[in-house]
Amino acid sequence: QMTPIDRAKYASAYCAADFVKDGMRVGLGTGSTASWLVRRLGARVKNEGLRIIAVPTSTRTAQLAHEVGINVVSLDEARWLDLTIDGADEFDAELTLIKGGGGALLHEKIVATASDQMIVITDPAKEVNALGAFPLPVEVIPFGWQASKALIEEILASMDVLDRQTRLRMNGDAPYVTDEGNYILDLALGRIGNARQLSLVLNQVPGVVENGLFVDIADQVIIGHPDGAVELRD
Ligand code: A5P
Repeated sequence: QMTPIDRAKYASAYCAADFVKDGMRVGLGTGSTASWLVRRLGARVKNEGLRIIAVPTSTRTAQLAHEVGINVVSLDEARWLDLTIDGADEFDAELTLIKGGGGALLHEKIVATASDQMIVITDPAKEVNALGAFPLPVEVIPFGWQASKALIEEILASMDVLDRQTRLRMNGDAPYVTDEGNYILDLALGRIGNARQLSLVLNQVPGVVENGLFVDIADQVIIGHPDGAVELRD
């Protein structure tokens, strides 16, 4: 039994899967919407004989892609990609995104920027006037993470944001650990005034590997609706 939001995610993923053509090299995103995409592409491989080379953005997605019969390679084997299809946590009118709610932002950003095109699969709940209601994930290396956190807080004091709450993402009693063995700081900012500047500044902090702001990366957003309708934005 699918909830309305599941049906919206499914509609978006199903529509995006039609952008994948025979012979393409495709980046596969992470999250519940992306998992519908992976299943749909698996069905197309099986039923239509669609031939694709796929690069997953997480161990979770790699596992699922394997299960549904998609040919999975590393990004270094693929070298470049025609298209990446991934979810997002928030998007605005410029198609700037917040990603990383699922913890895979680093591989997601590397894969998306190695692609000629990025399509974002979403539902209406993710469209915002101003980014930042969703806490911004920042991946930091474990060494000295508290020093990195303190520096981020210092920098946030002079940034155009509404709130300045930072916290280490947890997995039960232990820090959440990414596929690269790093930690994630979630930055509750309320409203982000200048995403481009914030992204650049965060990535200058020693220990920060990457942040979840995707600026000038997405080419198109597909918004699915519970009734199966889809809206395309670019
Ligand atoms: C994964 O790290 C995130 O960037 C996901 O793309 C994001 O959390 C969207 O997830 P859902 O499709 O489950 O909403």
